Formats: sequence, C-alpha cells, structure tokens
Amino acid sequence: MMIKNPIHPHLADAYKEMGKHSTIPLWEIYHLLVSNEPKPMGDPNLWRYSDLRPLLLDAGNKISAEEAERRVLALKNPGLERPGIAQTLFAGLQLVMPGEIAPAHRHTQGAIRFVLESTGGYTAVEGERCTMQRGDFITTPSWCWHDHENTGDGPMIWLDGLDVPLVNFLGGKFAEENETDQQPIFRSDNASVATYGTGLRPFNGAEQKPYSPIFRYPYDRSRAALMEMAQGTIDPYLGHKMIYANPNDGGHVLPTISAFLQYLPKGFETTAWRSTESTVFSVVEGSGIVRAGDTEIRFEESDTFVVPNWTAYQITADTDAVLFSFSDRAAQEKLGIFREEKPAA
Ligand SMILES: [Fe+2]
Repeated sequence: MMIKNPIHPHLADAYKEMGKHSTIPLWEIYHLLVSNEPKPMGDPNLWRYSDLRPLLLDAGNKISAEEAERRVLALKNPGLERPGIAQTLFAGLQLVMPGEIAPAHRHTQGAIRFVLESTGGYTAVEGERCTMQRGDFITTPSWCWHDHENTGDGPMIWLDGLDVPLVNFLGGKFAEENETDQQPIFRSDNASVATYGTGLRPFNGAEQKPYSPIFRYPYDRSRAALMEMAQGTIDPYLGHKMIYANPNDGGHVLPTISAFLQYLPKGFETTAWRSTESTVFSVVEGSGIVRAGDTEIRFEESDTFVVPNWTAYQITADTDAVLFSFSDRAAQEKLGIFREEKPAA
C-alpha cells in the first residue's frame, strides 16, 4: 500500500521498505480506521415510484422472470461505489407478471419484502405460501427456500430488502437453485401467521431459529395495531412507531434486519435525531417531506427513500402518513455498536 501525502514525509523511504514486507505504519492511517464518530456512508436519496414503475413494466415485456432469475431494479445509492442502497443493505423493486413464477432458490443472505402492488399472488417460504397484498410484510430468512407466483391479473411489485453487502463482506455468500421451479408446499397457506400471529405460540419446546417464525405480517393487522397505538402519546422523534417483532423473544425479525411501521398524523413534525443504523423507508400512505443532512426530499405514496447511518433526519407529514422501514439495527445491536443521538425535543 502506497501512502499518499504521508503525515511524516521524511519517513517516506522507511515506508517503502515496510511496504515490501506487507506492513503499513499504523500512525499514518490511524485516523482512517478510528474516528471520534462515524461518517455517513452514502447519500440520502429518494426513488420515485412513478419513475420506476414504467421502467420495471418495460423490463417485464423484455425479459422473463425465469430468464432474469429475479426481475429486479436495484436501487443504487449515488454516494456509494458498490451496488447497495446503503453500506450494509441492498434494496430493489421486483416485478412478477400475471402467470409468472420466479423460481425457487435460497441463499445465505436474508431478505424482507414489502408489497407495493398486487392483485393476487404469494411468496412461498419453507413450504408455506405467504399471500402478498399491498402493505403485507414478508420475510425470507437466511437459507430458506423461496419462490414467487403472480396468480392475479395485474403486475405484482414489491420492495426487496436484503443484507447482501453485509453478508458478502463477512464472506458467507452461498446460494442454491431448487430442482423444481416451485418448492414443495407442506404447510397450509399463511400457516406461520395463524400459528404465531395471535399472541400464542406452540408450548412444546420446538426448536427456535435465529429469526421470527412468522413469515407474513398482513397489513390489515399491522395497520390496526398501529392505529390502536396511535390512541396513546406520540413520540417526538418517531411519531407512532411499531417494530415487527419475533414473537419468541420480542426481538427483530431477522438477525441482520429490523423492520418497522410508523404513523405520522397530518401536520406532525418529528424532532431530528440520528443513529448508527442505515434505514430504508417505503411510503405506504400519505405524503410529506424528509430532511436528512442537507438534503430535503418530498415523498409520495409508494416512493422509497434512504437515510444513511449517522445522518440526522426529520420528517414532516403533509397528510396522515404511514411509513414502512427496515434497517441494519438488528445486526448492530448484536455486535454491541448501535448508538443513537436524540437532542432534547
Ligand atoms: Fe432470493
């Protein structure tokens, strides 16, 4: 490694010798590795659904879901070099046309889906069909088989969120195709919601996996819970915000990804705060403005926007607004590095 503009230029010859033996003087690069606080990675950015939907449908006419393996427009953060919506997160809009099947596969990267448009269809996860209707939240945890089918008569589009950059960075990237396009179904449709989504759980000491046993969180139930919560006191930083919880321990849905649903009443302005997590938002209902760092972004229904790590942000709801979001907070909490900063409201 060549050290450009060394802090101690009179040592340049010594540094050359060190380099020949695969060593680097730490005192020259210490400030790159350790700092008093993080720098945001990537830019705050918004992807307008009205811009992306026509591009996606055009791709739908030009490449089949089977040919593409997954017909996804990846949302690339303009402030990052590698693909990804944030340093640790991948996001994309996926399209499955009527009658199409996106074939079964599995990978070590964990995924979540948030449905934007559907007239009927499902994601099959580990032998269970999870119905996909607008606003439904679906998980496909690490190494779980998953395939998608559109059984409706209109396009089915959802926001994909994955921990791809994080898992790939850690070196645990594996994937496998299924022998058949569709995995065998051995549980009833939405079985995990019926079993675990009622406040009860099996009392038989069944093996607990490192992820939520619920693969589908239907929007009507999630929204009803959120509106019930909204009868209480509003949080100045979050509005009314709920976490999609693992019913076994109340924790995050995946070991690497947290997901949330948030309600901001018309005219409500959150107080700016920041945390070390990078967060991707999908606008379920309503419109408003997010101010993140120096960027001001107006959002409408079905738009996606990202707030990178350690970027203070504030949201103003122009109308009653419901926002879905996912972040890398779960991974950060497990590593013991999550921090937040909330100035007095
Ligand atoms: Fe996948």
